[in-house]
Amino acid sequence: MTTEQKVPNHIAVILDGNGRWAKKRRLPRALGHKQGCETLKSILDSCNDIGLKYLTVYAFSTENWKRSNDEVAALMQLIRYYIPRLEKKAMKKNTRVLIMGDRERFSPDMIRILDSVEQTTKDNTGLTFILGLNYGGRDEIRRAMVKLGREIAAGTLKPEDITEEMISARLDNPDVPDPDLIIRTSGEMRLSNFLTWQSAYSEFEFPAVLWPDFSDDDLEAAIAEYNGRDRRFGGRKSDGS
Ligand code: IPE
Ligand code: IPE
Ligand code: MG
Repeated sequence: MTTEQKVPNHIAVILDGNGRWAKKRRLPRALGHKQGCETLKSILDSCNDIGLKYLTVYAFSTENWKRSNDEVAALMQLIRYYIPRLEKKAMKKNTRVLIMGDRERFSPDMIRILDSVEQTTKDNTGLTFILGLNYGGRDEIRRAMVKLGREIAAGTLKPEDITEEMISARLDNPDVPDPDLIIRTSGEMRLSNFLTWQSAYSEFEFPAVLWPDFSDDDLEAAIAEYNGRDRRFGGRKSDGS
């Protein structure tokens, strides 16, 4: 993919609609998730091509454990299948992979797979791809609070000295800048516990397309719409008016 557009620094995507995509075709939900993974592979290539610096995707939330055992098992199987392949591909494409979320909830073999992809790709300097697994924005903030609480208990920090930067520094990937653009597919207009802290000044887009159908044209359209936005961060309009 190529684009004439100015590419944002960090795009984050809530990839939603896999279940509805499968239902429309009378297929099991697991096949919707599988197709969603294929779409993600292709969008990752496109993000590489256009020189995006950071791509975050929300793939499994802290709430998604509430789904049926079958669906959770299918999702775990897809993660087991795709991550080692992602690791190989990332080495070819100079992509750094980071995991966001509490991985302690996963089985030991899965934790090894997640640790491995991060470790192997850590020195790559192209796109940084951040994958949200067992991720919840509130849980991420809670875990950051636990770290601060421990420092206070140890006597190395005074509560009144806590700054916003210190909270940011204790989130899952402190070196990743806040997302400029958050896209949620499938027409749902909510965050569902995604990037609660980091989304304070993000731009939002809610295309109707279901995630498995998301194409390069949809990515291009999202970036074009972003370019038409006027980000003010609480200050004046960018043209000074
Ligand atoms: C998104 O698709 C993927 C995950 C949340 C794991 P959904 O499974 O939420 O698809 P819909 O919302 O039921 O269509
Ligand atoms: C959000 O989608 C989580 C992910 C895409 C991983 P959900 O489909 O789980 O969210 P709700 O239930 O519609 O809010
Ligand atoms: Mg959904």
